[in-house]
Amino acid sequence: MSTHNVWTHKGTFLLAAVGSAVGLGNLWRFPYLTGENGGGAFILVYALTIFAVGIPILIAETMLGRASRRSPIMGMRFLARTHKTSRAWESIGWLGGASAFLILSFYSVIAGWAIHYTWQMFTGSLVGADAQTVSDGFDALLASPALLTLYHTLFIIASGLIVGLGIHKGIESSLRILMPALFLILLGVLAYGFVNGDFAAAASFLFTFNLAELSLEGWLQAMGQSFFTLSLGMGAIMAYGAYMSDQASLTRTAFAVAFVDTAVAMVAGLAIFSLVFGAGLDAGSGPGLMFISLPLAFAEMPFGALIGGVFFILVLGAAISSSISLIEPVAAFLVERFDLTRPQAVFGMVLASWALGLLTVSSFNIWAETGLFHDLFGRSAFDFIELLTNIFMPLGGMLIALFAGWALTHSEVMKEMRTSETWFQVWRFLVRFVAPAAVAFVFLRTLPQVHG
Ligand code: PHE
Ligand code: NA
Repeated sequence: MSTHNVWTHKGTFLLAAVGSAVGLGNLWRFPYLTGENGGGAFILVYALTIFAVGIPILIAETMLGRASRRSPIMGMRFLARTHKTSRAWESIGWLGGASAFLILSFYSVIAGWAIHYTWQMFTGSLVGADAQTVSDGFDALLASPALLTLYHTLFIIASGLIVGLGIHKGIESSLRILMPALFLILLGVLAYGFVNGDFAAAASFLFTFNLAELSLEGWLQAMGQSFFTLSLGMGAIMAYGAYMSDQASLTRTAFAVAFVDTAVAMVAGLAIFSLVFGAGLDAGSGPGLMFISLPLAFAEMPFGALIGGVFFILVLGAAISSSISLIEPVAAFLVERFDLTRPQAVFGMVLASWALGLLTVSSFNIWAETGLFHDLFGRSAFDFIELLTNIFMPLGGMLIALFAGWALTHSEVMKEMRTSETWFQVWRFLVRFVAPAAVAFVFLRTLPQVHG
């Protein structure tokens, strides 16, 4: 039975969890979902879920990782056995592994677009371009399976190399450089948006709301986004938690992760919508928001090529610090279960996910409007895979909450949480009742409506 090693420092888990949390979810998905769903109302539902559901589950998931000190699948098997409960809880691990694999497959394709735009910015190819040119350029990128596959391949190889080097030499050391650099760049882009864009319009779009404007699918998307953005319910946090120092505080760490992640999403939203409104563009343009509106805004602004290039580096860095956390839980499982070497395990995981990613590639061109997924599910493979993860992550999170809330004893939880009885009671109430009820409520309200 393999016991895991631990991160080098007490604070490394925080660094790793923030690296996992902050990613395309903040910079790309949050702004475009907010734009599509009309702004403030979406943010309100999203923020409520972060605090009432996200943080308690973040604590629970880290706890399960640290208490088992194993990869999610083996860890849940171990915990279920030591608690003499049903082996069905192992499904948390399997569901997580499946989600990690699904998310990585499209995450890498989207991150690949950022490689393209980093290149376009630094070479100055878009300087002075008009709206038509920029949006034609994006369409041309999506229309090319070859280009999309090339970038997807580059990105996933880079992620695999980092995880293949191990948690210390690979994951820790890259995060130590990446994360501080990312925060500096983000502040730079915010300042730039503030000076060159329409900051007031951005702020009022993000922070005024009318709940009645939020559609049913908007509710599911807001909840799905709050799980996605905190990397919850799919084993990434559990896998990293398995390496967490016994000295680190679960509560404080969880609040810090949620705070930083939310702050980054808000800053990114403010910066992006300042530029978008400043250039008179449409907020609801969908997944292309960051890849059309921003390059266009940069095309017309002073030092746009340079700032734009730096911005897309930020996107890439944030994406890679998240994609490595998608590989880790599955790779660690393959190492523990089948005695593979780490490089072998990473290679297996990455290769399978890469192949599935080709379906996402095809969703933007050859199978955009036709193909098997349209026949069966009325949507493209990309939309279908995204929908699945919007369901799997909250479902996984709900099971994690139920297991931590009902199966673990008071003394086990206290051994991990080392906290006041009051906060323990609050936390346990949230994971026992509030989080599962919230997930169930949103599922019941929206799933019957989600089709075609
Ligand atoms: N949290 C990441 C983001 O916001 C995405 C992610 C989801 C990463 C699940 C790992 C696990 O981009
Ligand atoms: Na995030």
